[in-house]
Parts: sequence; C-alpha cells; structure tokens
Amino acid sequence: MSVLLQVLLVILIVLFALGVIWRLSSRRTSVPCPSWLAWLVEMENPFAKNYNASAIIQQLDLKPGMKVLDAGCGPGRVTIPLARALLPAGEVVAVDIQPQMLNRAREKANTAGLSNIDFRELAIEPGRLGVAEYDRVLLVTVLGEIPDRAGALQEIHRTLKPDGILSVTEIVFDPHYQTRKSILQLANTAGFREKAFFGNRASYTLHLCKLNKEGLQREQDKHL
Ligand SMILES: C[S@@+](CC[C@H](N)C(=O)[O-])C[C@H]1O[C@@H](n2cnc3c(N)ncnc32)[C@H](O)[C@@H]1O
Repeated sequence: MSVLLQVLLVILIVLFALGVIWRLSSRRTSVPCPSWLAWLVEMENPFAKNYNASAIIQQLDLKPGMKVLDAGCGPGRVTIPLARALLPAGEVVAVDIQPQMLNRAREKANTAGLSNIDFRELAIEPGRLGVAEYDRVLLVTVLGEIPDRAGALQEIHRTLKPDGILSVTEIVFDPHYQTRKSILQLANTAGFREKAFFGNRASYTLHLCKLNKEGLQREQDKHL
C-alpha cells in the first residue's frame, strides 16, 4: 500500500472514531454543533436528497406573506433560500444560540441582498417565543442539540398558528440524529400529530400539525 493510501486510511479511521465518540457522548449531553464546523453544516449532501434545502422548502407549501421560524438556523444553509422563496411579502425569523453562526448567516443574507430575515440570538426553550405567531417552524438537525426537547416542542406548539406546520428534518450522519419514533413520542405529548413524512430512515422530514381540541383531549386523557 502506498504511503498516501496509508495516510488517507488513518485519517478516515480517526474521523470515524471521532464521529462514534461524538455520537455516544451526545446521548448523555446535548452540546450544540461548534461554530468552527459551520463549513460542514453548510454543505448539501449528494447522498440524501431529502436533507437538501430545496427539498425541505418545496415540501413546506409556502403561501404569500407567510411568517416562518427557522429554529437553530446555524450558518443559514436553509434560511437564505427560504427567505428567497418567501419574497416579496413573506418573512423569516432565524434564531440560534451561537452568535458566530448568526453572523455567518447574516453575512450571506447581506451578500444575497435579502432584507426579509430577522436574525435573533435566542434559545428555543419555554417562554421565549410569541403566541400563535408562525405559519411554519423548521427544526433542521437541531432537536438533538436541545437539552429540554419536550419543553422546546411545547414552546413551538405555542408559537405556531392553529393551522401551522412544524417541519423536522433529521439525517443519520448527524451525531445528534433523532429517530422518527422518538420525535413522535415527544411531539404527541406536546399536542402535535403527524401530517406527512418524506424520505427514509437515513434522512427524512417529518411534518407535524397541531391536534384539534378533541384530539388534544384524547391525548391528555391517555396521559392521566
Ligand atoms: C447542526 S446545526 C444545523 C443548522 C441549520 N438548521 C442547518 O440545517 O443548516 C444546529 C444549530 O442549532 C443551534 N442550536 C442548538 N441548540 C439550540 C437551541 N436551544 N436554540 C436555538 N438554536 C440551537 C446550534 O447553535 C447550531 O447552529
């Protein structure tokens, strides 16, 4: 084997080991994706079409004038094309807990000449968002990084309009990957039901909508 091949093999093994360690430690503690990895988060994945920004946006059934929350927007991979898709009258509120991520996304919005994005440094946690404010909420590879996932979903439920949709995207390469089953368990308790599922186990988008009053009552009775 040539020296170059040996070096490549070692790099691959080290990357794989780091990935496994990160994934295992993510099960114990929810650590946000470090901002120095923004370049990696910004990349589309040629092997997972469902994960690509264009697929996520297409599935949202956007209407003129809609207000969309990109929760955990990171460096703006989805935020920028989303804001473009909402022109001329729609608006994106892009929130993240890391200012470096927000700065990167803001830079891209400026370069693209987009002024319909409101960037906010904010954590998705109980009591932080307005009531019935958004038509759509996006959580793209974010949920696994939030320590209080149940609280975050309850808050998103509160901030969605009655006919709004929460769109959750997961990809198996993410160390914080969440299964459809675990999301549905939490989401049902928060008052959501599944509306649509796109993709497969490796990469998918799950659409959740609010239960109506009767459905909510049934769910609450189940938990008594
Ligand atoms: C893996 S990145 C995904 C970024 C973006 N959604 C995308 O797909 O390109 C996850 C982002 O969620 C942010 N994040 C983690 N916990 C958060 C929380 N509680 N509230 C808001 N943002 C959070 C992290 O700072 C990070 O930028």
